[in-house]
Amino acid sequence: MALRVGVVGGGQLARMMIAPAVELGVDLCVLAEQEGMAASLAASAVGDYRDAQTVLDFARTVDVVTFDHEHVPQPVLRALVDAGIAVHPGPDALQYAQDKLLMRARLDELGMPQPDWAAVSDAAQLQDFLDEHGGRAVVKTPRGGYDGKGVRVVAAATEADDWFATLAEDARGGTLLVEELVDFRRELSQQVARRPSGQVQAYPVVETVQRDGVCAEVLAPAPHLSARLADAAERIGVGIAEGLGVTGMLAVELFETTDDRILVNELAMRPHNSGHWSQDGSVTGQFEQHLRAVLDLPLGDPSPRQDWAVMVNILGGPASGGLDERFAAVFRAHPGVKIHTYGKEPRPGRKVGHVNAMGEDLDEVAYDARAAAAFFAD
Ligand SMILES: Nc1ncnc2c1ncn2[C@@H]1O[C@H](COP(=O)(O)OP(=O)(O)OP(=O)(O)O)[C@@H](O)[C@H]1O
Ligand SMILES: [Mg+2]
Repeated sequence: MALRVGVVGGGQLARMMIAPAVELGVDLCVLAEQEGMAASLAASAVGDYRDAQTVLDFARTVDVVTFDHEHVPQPVLRALVDAGIAVHPGPDALQYAQDKLLMRARLDELGMPQPDWAAVSDAAQLQDFLDEHGGRAVVKTPRGGYDGKGVRVVAAATEADDWFATLAEDARGGTLLVEELVDFRRELSQQVARRPSGQVQAYPVVETVQRDGVCAEVLAPAPHLSARLADAAERIGVGIAEGLGVTGMLAVELFETTDDRILVNELAMRPHNSGHWSQDGSVTGQFEQHLRAVLDLPLGDPSPRQDWAVMVNILGGPASGGLDERFAAVFRAHPGVKIHTYGKEPRPGRKVGHVNAMGEDLDEVAYDARAAAAFFAD
């Protein structure tokens, strides 16, 4: 019988596990939120990932359960573990990718470099933090944020009133995370794969460029990064993977500060947008690596195949017509680039695909990737 991996969530990350699963001969099963999602090709079930029975029924058909997103509630995850199901990453690790306050507290315990932060439950506490940090700070909802939603730069405590009001309505009560506004030169991402039995492999640290809170492009490896900071990023990534017991792919979003420090922004315990370059740019791409890791198989070589890889997201897509209507023109103009699309309806700002380019000359590679991606925009 083939090995069977079950992925909860039918988005593009699950979709991109399909190709390496087919190559390996691993059966990939997906519990999708609804019909017609990005990973519908592998969707073997459709149901609510917040319902323990639904997820249990799905999990009993596979050897290991993993995820396309971090939103499966802790009680559902615990029910899987209690039923003897292999879950990677497990709930003890995943909680730190689900809740940014828990993450900050735990990373302090592990001695990881972070922005100054505090948990604040009212405007007065937020004002105190602002007063201590030059009058500006970043407020975050601890749970459920994505693509910059749930992140706000504030210069006055009243600017978070609506979020405090929402928290007050929440029967469980709650707090917001506030962080110093980091003066960063750029953002980086360190990916690490870790097997349940302990083997760890680190990818080269990359530069991520966000526009309007959404990842726009990734340069791999991070250009002109000092060996000291590259080493620091790798040690942070490996230290977090081991310290939190992460299994599968881990992405650590980082800030490179203007005074040459590396600080942790946040964690994702699954394949990540910052690692899409590795599909074509590494000996072992992050989606294959994730499958190997959650199956506790020896990890593949994460080394780059060429000097540089650049990934550019296709955001929004064409105003009318499918992405494939542009394929002929892109392939003609850019025969070296690789196109990945997610089978999603184009909509302004939505991630509907990405382009990878590789080569020896960073400027040429970046030009190639950006120009190819531009074919899909109107
Ligand atoms: N403390 C900070 N100082 C300065 N900028 C910050 C800080 N925290 C976050 N940012 C900016 O806001 C962006 C989004 O923040 P964060 O990654 O925490 O949110 P998210 O919505 O969970 O992210 P994602 O889009 O990765 O899901 C960061 O990539 C960074 O550009
Ligand atoms: Mg982020």
